Parts: sequence; structure tokens; C-alpha cells
Amino acid sequence: MCLEAYKAAQVHLGVRSYPVLVGGGLLIRLDEAISEYIPGVTGCIIVTSQSVDALYGGQAMAALEGLNPGKFIVPEGEDAKTWGATEKLLGGIIGHGLDRRGVVVALGGGSVGDSAGFAASIYMRGIRVVQVPTTLLGQVDSGIGGKTAVNHPSGKNLIGSFHQPSLVACDTALLATLPRRELCSGLAEVAKYGVVSDAILYKGLEVEVEGILSGDAERLRWIVGRCAVSKARYIKADERDDGGVRAALNYGHTVGHAVETLSGHTIRHGEAVAIGMVAASRVAHSLGLLKQADLVRQINLLHRLGLSVDVPYRLDEVIPLMKRDKKAEASSIRLVLPTGIGSETVVRVASETELRGALGGYDDAP
Ligand SMILES: NC(=O)c1ccc[n+]([C@@H]2O[C@H](COP(=O)([O-])OP(=O)(O)OC[C@H]3O[C@@H](n4cnc5c(N)ncnc54)[C@H](O)[C@@H]3O)[C@@H](O)[C@H]2O)c1
Ligand SMILES: [Zn+2]
Repeated sequence: MCLEAYKAAQVHLGVRSYPVLVGGGLLIRLDEAISEYIPGVTGCIIVTSQSVDALYGGQAMAALEGLNPGKFIVPEGEDAKTWGATEKLLGGIIGHGLDRRGVVVALGGGSVGDSAGFAASIYMRGIRVVQVPTTLLGQVDSGIGGKTAVNHPSGKNLIGSFHQPSLVACDTALLATLPRRELCSGLAEVAKYGVVSDAILYKGLEVEVEGILSGDAERLRWIVGRCAVSKARYIKADERDDGGVRAALNYGHTVGHAVETLSGHTIRHGEAVAIGMVAASRVAHSLGLLKQADLVRQINLLHRLGLSVDVPYRLDEVIPLMKRDKKAEASSIRLVLPTGIGSETVVRVASETELRGALGGYDDAP
């Protein structure tokens, strides 16, 4: 199959435009993809985590043999996203001797993508990065769009940069080894795209739930491709998330972030987003913006995807954290509210009273 046939989307950003390739078998064709889409590469370093390395590191090294590949292992999960880990990673890149025309290949979940992307953005004032996301969340969300970040003890993703990749290669065959919980967590973000921008994707999820959960390759390729198209459109319209357009992608994230934090990150990001989506939809419904049927459709789909939808904490615990969310102004609670499935969202500042009115009846946590 020719590489162009894998191209699910193009992120249009002038000279920084890049393709998003989606399909099974891309990992072993990474050298071909790099030489086709990124001119003049002099070398590369694969940045990955131990568990992903054990599964796919060998294939990636073999595929990139012609590009003098180095490899650097970052810690697993959020532990990759610290200053200390970033300093070590930069040491690895320097040690491999990458010059300004070298590329960082981020092979792993969103945490690897965020830390490798951040290191690439500051090494020699910025070198190119290829995102090869290996989780569903990475393929539909974090791998595309150029947001990179590490955490600070006082907050997640507080230190980072915008650094667009030069290529995103989503090998959907790699999702076969993903633990079911990670798959379901990623599917929450897929459902989010459906609600905020893609009614056909949403319907496809409803019809194909069983096939998707069983890891059907063709269905996974289809959903990752559609999400890539949506995300590419948002990035073109609002690259730096300051024009209000990309805000739609934060649907479910205000309550979601609070839930994630309260759980000490034992609740996965997508699991928290599912809870946040239903909370925001309950608010939207109570304000007359969303039909009851569209709220119920989301609750039903998320349940079928193996996700919980009720806020597992008291509102007294959740609300203060929502006010602290870095996307909220001083003490107001800014929510992205849906108006239908696949319809426009609206950003609205909700008062605490409105929030309690909409969610109070569901606040059955101890
Ligand atoms: N930059 C962005 O725009 C953006 C967007 C959303 C989320 N994020 C960030 O992404 C991170 C979460 O990413 P995540 O959900 O991918 O989690 P993760 O990177 O922690 O990966 C989850 C787990 O899956 C394992 N894994 C990865 N690929 C696998 C595979 N193919 N088979 C088996 N196991 C595999 C990993 O080793 C890890 O243990 C967070 O830090 C979040 O802040 C960034
Ligand atoms: Zn998210």
C-alpha cells in the first residue's frame, strides 16, 4: 500500500503543515514515511518507555536502521513528565549527538509524547519531532496538535510549549496490546469528538461498540482517522488554543480534571472525561441547551464503553478544584456545553448555584 493511502488528515499550518498517517503496519515503514514527509533528516533518537520498548522498540529500531537510531527510555506514565526526567532525556539526545536536522521519534502513550515533544522543542532551540502514539488516547488526541508539557509539583502540564510535530504516524495495529482499561479510556475521548463535532463518528460508535471493544482493526482505523480529521480542523482554526475554537475539545475536561486530581490519578484521564462529559451535559440540559434524549444517548454509550458517568466525589470537593482549573477564570467555572450530538458547543460561565442545581440530584457520593 502506498503511504499516501495512510494519510487520514493533513494539519494545515502553512510551512509547518504535516500529515497524520493512520493504519496498521506503519511502524515498520517509519523510515519510508520520514524520508517521504521530512526532508534532510540526518539521524534520529527513539524516545519510549520500558513497557512500550519491550513490545515495539525492536521493530522501531529495525525500521529506522538507516537513520542511525539511538534509543532513550523515559520513566513510565506521568513520571516521564518531570523536570528531572526531561534533563536526563536531553542528556540522552546530546549523548547521541543529534544535530539540528535530527529528529526525535516519540514512541509511546501521551506521557512519552508530551515529554519527548517538550525536549525536542527546547533542544538546540527546537528540532523536529515525529509522534508515533501507541495508546488510543495518543492517537486520537495527544499525538496531534503540538501541545507539549511536563508537570510541576503545583500543577499538571504547567511547563510546556507549542511544538508541532513534522509527522504523526498512528499504527493502529499497536493498539492490539493495549490493556482494555486504556482502550476504554481512549474511547471516552473518541466519544467526545463525536459529541462536539462528528455525528457520524458518534453513530458509528453506537453501532459498532462490540467490534471496537474486541479490537477490530478496521473499526479502530476508522475511528482514529475520523478523530484525526476533527483534531486537524480545530488546530488549523485555533493552533494555540487562544481563539476559543479549540476550547470545544475541552468538553468534559473541567469536571474531568477535578475528578482526576481528586482520585490522585487513579482514575484514568479518559475515565474522568467521561464523567465530566455527562456532568457538563446535565448542566447543558438544565439550562435548556441540550435535549434530554441527547444526554441519555451519551450516558448509554459511555456505559456500553465500560465507563462510569457519575461524579464519585461530593460537589463540595469537586467545585473548588474546578475553580482552580487553569482554564477557568479567577473564581468562575467555565464549562464547554454541548447543544446536541455533533453540534456546536458553547462556552459558558456557570455559577456555583447553577452547577449545584444541575448536579446536586446526582450527588450520591458518601
Ligand atoms: N499534548 C496533548 O495535547 C495531550 C492531550 C491529552 C492528554 N495528554 C497527556 O497524555 C498523558 C496520558 O497519555 P496516555 O493516556 O496515553 O497514558 P500513558 O502515556 O501513561 O500510557 C498508558 C499506559 O499504556 C502503556 N502503553 C502504551 N502503549 C501501549 C501499547 N501499544 N500496548 C500496551 N501498553 C501500552 C504505557 O506503557 C502506560 O503504562 C497525560 O500526561 C496527559 O496530560 C496530552
Ligand atoms: Zn483529554
